Amino acid sequence: MADNPEISKLSTKEAQVEISRLQDELIDDGIAYYEKDAPLVEDHVYDAKYARLVALEAAFPQFVTPDSPTQNVGGAQTKSGLAKVQHPVPMLSLGDVFSLEELQEWEDRTVKALGSQPSYNLELKIDGLAVSLKYEEGQLVQASTRGNGSIGEDVTANVWTINDVPKTLNEPLTIEVRGEIYMPKASFASLNEERENQGQEPFANPRNAAAGSLRQLDAKETKKRKLSAFIYYTAEADRLGVTKQSEVLRRFAELGLPTNTDNRVIGKMAEIADYIAEYTEKRDSLPYGIDGVVVKVDEIDSEIDLGNTVKVPRWSIAYKFPPEEEQTVVRDIEWTVGRTGAVTPTAVMDPVLLAGTTVQRASLHNPDYLEMKDVRVGDTVTLHKAGDIIPEIGQVILDKRAATAEKYPIPTTCPSCGADLVHVEGEVVLRCINPACPAQLQEGLTHFASRNAMNIDGLGPQIVSQLLEKKLVTDVASIYSLTVDQLLTLDKFKEKSANNLVQAIKNSKENSADRLLFGLGIRLVGAKAAKTMMAELNDLGTLAQANVEKIVAIDGIGQAIADSVVKYFDEPQSQALLAELANAGVNLAYKSDNGSVDENSFFYGKKIVLTGKLEKSSRSELANWLEAHGANVAGSVSKKTDLVIAGSDAGSKLQKAEDLGVTVWSEQDLINAQQDESN
Ligand code: IVH
Repeated sequence: MADNPEISKLSTKEAQVEISRLQDELIDDGIAYYEKDAPLVEDHVYDAKYARLVALEAAFPQFVTPDSPTQNVGGAQTKSGLAKVQHPVPMLSLGDVFSLEELQEWEDRTVKALGSQPSYNLELKIDGLAVSLKYEEGQLVQASTRGNGSIGEDVTANVWTINDVPKTLNEPLTIEVRGEIYMPKASFASLNEERENQGQEPFANPRNAAAGSLRQLDAKETKKRKLSAFIYYTAEADRLGVTKQSEVLRRFAELGLPTNTDNRVIGKMAEIADYIAEYTEKRDSLPYGIDGVVVKVDEIDSEIDLGNTVKVPRWSIAYKFPPEEEQTVVRDIEWTVGRTGAVTPTAVMDPVLLAGTTVQRASLHNPDYLEMKDVRVGDTVTLHKAGDIIPEIGQVILDKRAATAEKYPIPTTCPSCGADLVHVEGEVVLRCINPACPAQLQEGLTHFASRNAMNIDGLGPQIVSQLLEKKLVTDVASIYSLTVDQLLTLDKFKEKSANNLVQAIKNSKENSADRLLFGLGIRLVGAKAAKTMMAELNDLGTLAQANVEKIVAIDGIGQAIADSVVKYFDEPQSQALLAELANAGVNLAYKSDNGSVDENSFFYGKKIVLTGKLEKSSRSELANWLEAHGANVAGSVSKKTDLVIAGSDAGSKLQKAEDLGVTVWSEQDLINAQQDESN
């Protein structure tokens, strides 16, 4: 860390104070990272602090305490309910370097120790978490996490749910192998979207998401999280009959173990620069996260000769990519009110190109976070992507801060309705609790109409905003009194679009009640939880009267969701809303869709695009029908499209379908097929 005083210039007292402070901080950081899967600081900050502590402790060994983080191999001991597993051979971590110069120093030491030039196997450093897999006579008998290196956690049941990990090897070998469990970027993005929909904190990066998912006590939960694996190491290469790490990987693949095939054998260290450059370039487009390159001495005999230090192997080193980072200037801090009334600050910045996309906004999450980062309007900040995906402000460049820059005031009133904001006990967020707050209504109504909720086609955010402005709606129940004449007063509405929307609203009354329950936007109640509760209780009226005991008794529903539901329906205005919805004719009963998706249907699993004007039914009705028959209705035509259904005046989508040779049907073709289906 550049700002730190040189160690040789420190007095003993100063060193002692700094060592003790770093030890404390790194223990806290470690607990947040390993136990809570919610890091307090970014990896490179942790790495820099850790490196500084190692250097200080080397110079002042009298201050090394047994509980110093440098004395543990890995993270803090975990405290979850999983069984502990003792690793017979400790699961070591890797030493890391951050520059080609440091890599060269490592190679100089290696060549000196071996007395000759080794060749190296270069591998990608997968950003996940290490696991050990034990196979006995080819059968997977145990999977465990690294834990603190000596003792990990038993995650066998969870690893069983990961498709990539074979339960049986292609040969009846007894062997312990190690590798990385990771969450592909796409799974990470959809998991976080779902978590945010459900009012849960998103995971900071795919690694934390993978760790959180693997350490679930319920393996069914792990299965939903779509994890993958790469296996890259065994201490028992002799059992594979090979003598090189590069051959170990090849043998793993023969055994049916998932391996990363981007490895490369090089004869001298100078060749690593090309590999690093190549993967720095490819990094963004890989479907999984990597945070560096692992260099391994290829010859296993040399590996054994070099051996390990207490903490890390001497035969391998990790080169860590510098964090992809840009600087930009903060122009504004916007406070927005979400559906649940949470008032969140977002930094709005000059746009910059970062890891493949243009970024202009980064969430500052809540007032505490803003306070901690102390971002001010006009500040130059570093910007990176957490887990390669989510834009995040690193730090303010204080040297570039204008003397006049002022701390950003935390609002005391709602930016939308002006009501006093509250800090609910036990929460970090600031909330507007005015149920009539227009911003909350805007978000709440848009959510109600959204696809996974009541699926009211044509009732998007712009229309909702106009309806609120004209005071045509006041809550979700008032949607059901909208008339064609009222809609005609809105911008761009014509007879046909007004009729279609009124019809879509009417159709939504028939939805299964789980959609309605999800649409109400009760905190923590996502689409899945809504379905689970309604499938059990059948009637939304029953749920509205249920107590916490009755709701937690439902398989798959936890205390927090049950509390939230009861709290919601305890409010008289929630009961009144439900009564209004019922009066408007909205269905409160659960309609099971079990069995309605017929896997033998012609449409099952097909990707279908609708385009042009349809005569016999509206596009949304057709889309619903197709989805009910297992089709995936998409908005644009690609090579993967199976079928395009084109009405009259179809334009570019039809053209594209024809160019790509995708099958095109008329509306009549579809009607014929629908009749065939029902016969
Ligand atoms: S080898 C004894 N190879 O990086 C050496 N580790 O920062 C075992 N990692 O603990 C590790 N990709 O969790 C190895 N290709 C790779 C890796 C890799 C990711 C992880 C692993 C390790 C950590 C060290």
